[in-house]
Amino acid sequence: MPALRIAITNQKGGVGKTTTAINLAAALGLRGKRVLIADLDPQANSTISFQTDAEIEHSIYDLLTNPQLSFEDVIRKTNIENVDILPSRINLAKLESQLIGELDAPFRLKDRFERSSLMYDFTIIDTPPTLGLITVNALVAATHLLIPIQSSYFALEGTDDLLDTIERIKARPNPDLEVLGVVITLHDRRTTLSRDIYDQICQVFGDKVFETTISKSVRLEESPAYRESIFNFAPQSSGAIEYSNLCDEVIRRAS
Ligand SMILES: Nc1ncnc2c1ncn2[C@@H]1O[C@H](COP(=O)(O)OP(=O)(O)OP(=O)(O)O)[C@@H](O)[C@H]1O
Ligand SMILES: [Mg+2]
Repeated sequence: MPALRIAITNQKGGVGKTTTAINLAAALGLRGKRVLIADLDPQANSTISFQTDAEIEHSIYDLLTNPQLSFEDVIRKTNIENVDILPSRINLAKLESQLIGELDAPFRLKDRFERSSLMYDFTIIDTPPTLGLITVNALVAATHLLIPIQSSYFALEGTDDLLDTIERIKARPNPDLEVLGVVITLHDRRTTLSRDIYDQICQVFGDKVFETTISKSVRLEESPAYRESIFNFAPQSSGAIEYSNLCDEVIRRAS
């Protein structure tokens, strides 16, 4: 299987990007895949959701701005088997102003990946809720996109901007970029509204929509506070079962 770099992206806030990034990474790790989670969000929610083997000394911001640092200086092991992390810190918010005028600004992350000799089966990139330079770095470095869409009345609002950005990235810096799939999150199967929204999302994204939907689950909300993935925190919960199913679909589409 070729190594995949999957950016989890949607410029809407709070749609389940980080929840999907950490639990998909954990599910892949549990299946024996070597996984790197690259936290490209200054909010650092993914980073905070894992325990690391040593104190975090350098962050992804340092890696992107200091050519002296190597991947090995920044990466930490997590408490989840086979999962390493490129941690983030709030200083990543300075990236845009720091890189003004640098011609290679959108390519920093891609260049770093290409220069590293570390091998991962999957790199999962968590992104912030913007379409600015940080997200552009993720879209340029990624081979695939996974788009979480929250099951809500406003689900598709802003999708045009996202699709437009993806098309622009494909036109030039990253023609091979592919949408791996769209996952519907915070879903409430019981309501008619949710079913209507599901149908609307399928009309836009067709067979890109994963069969698995992620339900609303208090367990999924709680687990990061314990620095556990859903598979350790509540292995029998709907969230664990659904993220495990999503992982199977991702592996199927990846091969
Ligand atoms: N399936 C779910 N059931 C219940 N709560 C969830 C679910 N998915 C995410 N949440 C909660 O919703 C909030 C937003 O989720 P999350 O942080 O994953 O979204 P995000 O898209 O990464 O947000 P941001 O855009 O701020 O980075 C969090 O409090 C999270 O715990
Ligand atoms: Mg997030």
